[in-house]
Amino acid sequence: MNTIFSDRIADVPRSFIREILKVSLDRSVISFAGGLPNRDLFPAEEIKRATSRVFELYGNDIFQYSNSEGDLKLRQYIANRYKEKKGLEINPEHILITNGAQQGLDLIGKTLVNEGEGVIIEEPGYLGAIQAFSIFRPRFLPLAVSEDGVDLAGLKAIAASEKAKLMYTVPNFQNPSGITYSEQNRREIVDILAGKNTFLIEDDPYGELRFAGTPKTPFAALMPAQTILLGSFSKIVVPGFRVGWIVAPEHIFNKLLVAKQASDLHTCHFTQYIIHQYLLDNDIDAHIAKIVAAYGGQCRRMLACIDRYFPADVSSTRPEGGMFLWGRLPGTMTSLDLFNLAVKEKVIFVPGDPFYTTGIKSPAFRLNFSCVDETTIETGIERLGKAIRLLAK
Ligand SMILES: Cc1ncc(COP(=O)(O)O)c(C=O)c1O
Repeated sequence: MNTIFSDRIADVPRSFIREILKVSLDRSVISFAGGLPNRDLFPAEEIKRATSRVFELYGNDIFQYSNSEGDLKLRQYIANRYKEKKGLEINPEHILITNGAQQGLDLIGKTLVNEGEGVIIEEPGYLGAIQAFSIFRPRFLPLAVSEDGVDLAGLKAIAASEKAKLMYTVPNFQNPSGITYSEQNRREIVDILAGKNTFLIEDDPYGELRFAGTPKTPFAALMPAQTILLGSFSKIVVPGFRVGWIVAPEHIFNKLLVAKQASDLHTCHFTQYIIHQYLLDNDIDAHIAKIVAAYGGQCRRMLACIDRYFPADVSSTRPEGGMFLWGRLPGTMTSLDLFNLAVKEKVIFVPGDPFYTTGIKSPAFRLNFSCVDETTIETGIERLGKAIRLLAK
């Protein structure tokens, strides 16, 4: 059949999560399916004040077209923060402000991926990355992740075949699994990839949301010439402004900039200025500490409830930060079957299937803990425990 659609878009999976969210419109349903930061923690008053200040300081200039790289003051702030928090030396001229980290993925795909080229993707992996890269029709090379990082034997085999152009990673509090790559796993990845023609994408929107354990060394420190680092204000300030960034080596940066110009000329100038003003006038560390305390409490409560209400043979990851954890059903049970029973018990989550590029029927599932208060977490996990027992019958 003739179609008006490009081949490029035909192969891109629809966002499964959007479909699930329809069910969550029913207010009696408890949703662990979303992936949103907690709206009660948005610094609304501070942003209001920052907005007024931006008007006072810049007048009509803030409504003008601007440069594609992004506001240099904001890029300088980001570079300074990397230095202060992680000891990373980053040239602000190599930071490209984007419409969220999500646009960073699209620009990287445009800049680096030809049809049929290999992209290593974590399994399970971030849905938005699977979607963003699918547009460029790569050959996905799935690589399993477990509690301490990626499958190193699998990576060695892929690296030996020289087929991977990119390796996409979320090394801190991964979406969807909540796992963090250990120091050892990171160093072995670097040993395997260093000097090869594979760029590592370090997507790190959750890195500052650590509520347990100790920070790990970023790939941008271990292998700077081969790493493209993505960051975002979505999880530490607000997602709706759509301000994120890419840090890339100069020759890659220059091409990403061309892709950015072709896409949208520049990221909204006004929201960049507001975020920068907000950062200047407020204590962002204190704000992040508030988010971390809330999410840490919610995660601990969810884990305690899992221990209490789930059958003992259902396993789960124990995240040290971020917004998600990953459960796994025993035997031949599938998370899609569980989903159908759970909806009847008025609780939902995201089944594991869409986080894989290989079309499997997954026994695993993602639970979000950032958006649900602790009492509701207790009720929701109790309901889910009941659904699991029904499925096991
Ligand atoms: C791993 C990962 N990368 C990127 C994004 C997109 O972030 P942004 O809002 O900065 O576009 C998300 C959002 O949930 C994410 O989980």
